[in-house]
Amino acid sequence: MSEELHVHVVDHPLVQHKLTLMRQKETGTKDFRDLLEEIAMLMAYEITRDFPLREIAIETPVAKCKAKVLAGKKVGLVPILRAGLGMVEGVLNLIPAARVGHIGLYRDPATLKPVEYYCKLPGDVAERTLIVVDPMLATGGSASAALTMLKEKGAKGMILMCLVSAPEGIRCINQKHPDVPVYVAAIDERLNDRGYIVPGLGDAGDRIFGTL
Ligand code: PRP
Ligand code: URA
Repeated sequence: MSEELHVHVVDHPLVQHKLTLMRQKETGTKDFRDLLEEIAMLMAYEITRDFPLREIAIETPVAKCKAKVLAGKKVGLVPILRAGLGMVEGVLNLIPAARVGHIGLYRDPATLKPVEYYCKLPGDVAERTLIVVDPMLATGGSASAALTMLKEKGAKGMILMCLVSAPEGIRCINQKHPDVPVYVAAIDERLNDRGYIVPGLGDAGDRIFGTL
């Protein structure tokens, strides 16, 4: 019996179209970066769909009325370095007041285990809804380590937002962090023997920063 994956797939046509452009090996650094930023903005629109609202009294040029404003916790945005940086501006376009924390992790190419090298977070992570961003969810080791680090610093409400995922990565987060909703734009077939997502889009960090 196949195990159910708990994941939200953002299948909006604009997201899917832009992701296809990103996957193509001919797509250069500038276009890749622009597309990632655009998709991050579109995905942020989807993941904030259920944010709570409250009514306030306002006055338009025509009349007094009640109108809705966001009511929930403030937002913190946490990119996993390096590649997560490529999603920051897109989310900030929609949520400009979000505080931004950074978690530095890289995957050891031999063991595929995450190695931590940086962590700087807003002081009030416990009071914020944290959106953790990384374009790639492969084994899930990096995202899982980042979520653990954030929980150790007191974080409570977190959402993981990735672009391309492998079933292995989603399974890892479901098992280790069942409290964290996972949003992706695609669930690909599998990982290859180097831990790369197939078909994927290659090394996201290298394609964003031109370090191929
Ligand atoms: C990539 C990617 C994720 C991680 C995913 O980062 O951006 O952080 O790999 O793989 P995992 O799910 O198996 O952990 P990488 O380690 O290449 O570092 P970089 O962003 O600095 O290039
Ligand atoms: N990291 C990447 O950048 N790409 C993959 O396919 C897997 C991990």
